[in-house]
Order: sequence, then C-alpha cells, then structure tokens
Amino acid sequence: MNAIEIIEKKRDGGTLADAEIQFFVSGYVAQEIPDYQAAAWLMAIYIRGMSAEETLALTLALATSGETMESSAGAGPTVDKHSSGGIGDKTTLIVLPLVAACGVPVAKVSGRGLSTFGGTVDKLESVRGFRTDLSSAEFEAQLREHGIVLSGQSADLAPADGLLYALRDVTGTVPSKALMASSIMSKKIAAGARGIVLDVKYGSGAFMPSIEEARELAHIMVEIGRGAGRRVTALLSDTNQPLGRTVGNALEVREAIETLGGRGPRDLHEHCLAVAGHMLRLAGRTRDDDLADARALLEERLASGEALAVLRKLIVLQGGDGGQIDRPETLPRAPIVREVPAPRDGYVAGIDALRVGRACLELGAGRMRKSEPIDHAVGAVFHRQVGDEAARGEALFAVHARQEADADTAVEEITAAFSWSDRSRRPPGPEAILG
Ligand code: URA
Repeated sequence: MNAIEIIEKKRDGGTLADAEIQFFVSGYVAQEIPDYQAAAWLMAIYIRGMSAEETLALTLALATSGETMESSAGAGPTVDKHSSGGIGDKTTLIVLPLVAACGVPVAKVSGRGLSTFGGTVDKLESVRGFRTDLSSAEFEAQLREHGIVLSGQSADLAPADGLLYALRDVTGTVPSKALMASSIMSKKIAAGARGIVLDVKYGSGAFMPSIEEARELAHIMVEIGRGAGRRVTALLSDTNQPLGRTVGNALEVREAIETLGGRGPRDLHEHCLAVAGHMLRLAGRTRDDDLADARALLEERLASGEALAVLRKLIVLQGGDGGQIDRPETLPRAPIVREVPAPRDGYVAGIDALRVGRACLELGAGRMRKSEPIDHAVGAVFHRQVGDEAARGEALFAVHARQEADADTAVEEITAAFSWSDRSRRPPGPEAILG
C-alpha cells in the first residue's frame, strides 16, 4: 500500500478500503505522507465524494488519531450537542445546565471562535476566572462528581482532523460533505458522548447555503453515528437572523442568564427547548420518545431556577466568579452604547447574520487568527427580530463599542443587514432528522 496508489484510486472514482483510509490518515499524522500528497487526496475526495462506508472509516480514523475521552467514566452515558456555527449562538450556555438539571450528565468539549463564528469558550471567558483548559483527569473527575463539565479542545483530541482541516482551509476543500461530516463527527466520537444532537444551520453565514444541502449533510452525520454506535439527531435550523437578541461574548452570557431565568427571547427559548428535548430523548429520559414529556420537565427546571443554579455551579467549579451570574451587570461592558432607530415603518423581513457577524468581528468580538485576543464587552443587541413590527424612529438595535469610529462602521454595516417587508413573516422552526 502506498499514498500514490490511494490518491490515484480515489481520483479515478474507486472506493477506498478501510485499511487504505487508515493508512493515509496515520501516515499523514506521522509526517510520513507530505502535505502535497494529502492535498491531492483531499481534492480527489472533494471531487469524487465518498460512500457511507468510506465516510465512516475516515471518521473513525480521525477520531482514534489521538486521545479518546471516556467522558461517561462513572457518570453514566453522556449526551452532547454540536452547532455548525451560527451568529449569536449561545445555545450551549443554556442547554448544558438545563439538561444537567434534569439529571442527565453532560460533558462538552467546545472551541474558540474563528472569523465571524463565536466560540462557547470565548463567551464563558467573559466571566472572571473561568477556566477552560482542563486536563483529561480534571474533566473526568468533575463529570463523575458533578455531572457537568465544559472544556476547551485539547490538541490531543482527534489531532488528524486538526491537521487535515488546516490543509483543507488552504486548498479549497472545506465544503465537501464527506469531509465536513467526518471532521465534525470525529471530534464528538473522540469526546465520548453516547448521544449527540447536531444543530445544522443553513442560510446566510452558515456552511450550508440551503436546507436541501443541510439535510444531506445531516443524513450523512446521522449515518456515521449509527455506524459508530452513537444515537444522533440532527435539527436543521434557519439562520435568517442571529439567534436571540445579542451578538458578542459578554452580551451573550447575559442573554443566556436571562433565558435560564425564563426571560429570554422567544426564538432562543424555543431553540434551546428543542435541542435540550432531543438530548433528553437520546438519554432515554422521555416516555416513549415523547418530546412533550421532555418539554414539560425542561420548562419546570427553568421556572424553578434549578437550571440557572447549575450554570452558576459550573462557573464556580471551573474557577469562575459565580457572583457575576447573580449580577450580570458586572460582566464586561463597553464604554460606548449607540442606540439606532428604525429607518422606516414596516416589518423586519431578515437580518443578514453574516453581515452582523462581520460587523461584530470588526468591533473586536471575534478574531481572524487563532492567537488574537478578543474584546469580551463589544457586540450588538437587537430590539427587533424577524417578523417584528417597527415604526420609523423606534429602537431597532444598539452597538456596544470601544471607540466612536468603530461604532460608526458597525452602525452602517448592521443597518444595511436589515431587510423589510409590509407583512409579518416568522422564520420556520427547526426540522428534525431522528437517528
Ligand atoms: N466544522 C468542523 O469541525 N469541520 C468542518 O469540516 C466544518 C465545520
């Protein structure tokens, strides 16, 4: 077996054997296969695609290329969730404590934000002292004792995916469904979850432009889960606007606290109940897979304050200042808050999430390179969402900025992100693909 034969076989439309895929992945990680051959192989896969069996073999080769977490160690089977990158997506901050408050252990490995997409780790680091660099031993011990843990991604988790993803990024091979599905699922499998809810976004700013493409990607990932012995459900959700009313790290933590206190915006509340409901279903906590059953339990945990208490506990367990959860006004705040009125009468038809993400990136809420620092205080708050009515001059959104000039640019960009209509149209709810 050698790399050239494997590249040629895929180039000519052949089907690779498990051993050939394993050979290529481990050879690349061991630096026995150079970048130029790996790049050629990725491009052949991009053009020819992969069968379900090949995609599963690639996922497992990536997942086992480094350390694999026994995240269920002593805590019972865990459930996890993954979002394929949405602007203003603070679902993890809400759903993790909510599901843990229902007695289901949750262990999550989250990333930092890159480009317009925010990362859960960055958001939580808005809280003074919160640590996300847990060792595997700390991760497992906290899960066992407290049933909830959230850590940043260690370099040892699916390292082959990290290397191949960096190469895909510079060779035009990111948007291959087989490569994306195996990349996403390899990290979930390596992190040990038995049940996984995937939130696959489509539309402006998402990896998948249309619902059809998102559905196809979701089916591939559900199949990978089946092959790897994990229960997977995929939710397809529209990104016709940012999720919830805020974009920006500390602003999103505040909104998560409000939502856990039962005072969140309707779209975010509903989205979190859908994701958490499926997590409970996968964990076997619903009668006859009945989601209404899950919903009642989740609503009860929100109303009683237990879910918010679990977020506070998570913060304190990982070195954070729990007082900031009790007093969210003490989280980082930007010196400039610029309120922007509606430029016309009408109904909000869309808020281009990608434009909003770019504007917040320019304000300093995100980073273009992995090593760059971010400003936790800045971002945007939306007073009107898709389907809402506004009269000219009424509050539309606010920009939170560090400098006046930054605020000017963001106001212009976000104003242009709005589209208007004379009728109210609400975005569609999520579609579920059950595994
Ligand atoms: N997220 C990932 O982890 N991998 C991809 O290929 C795309 C999105």
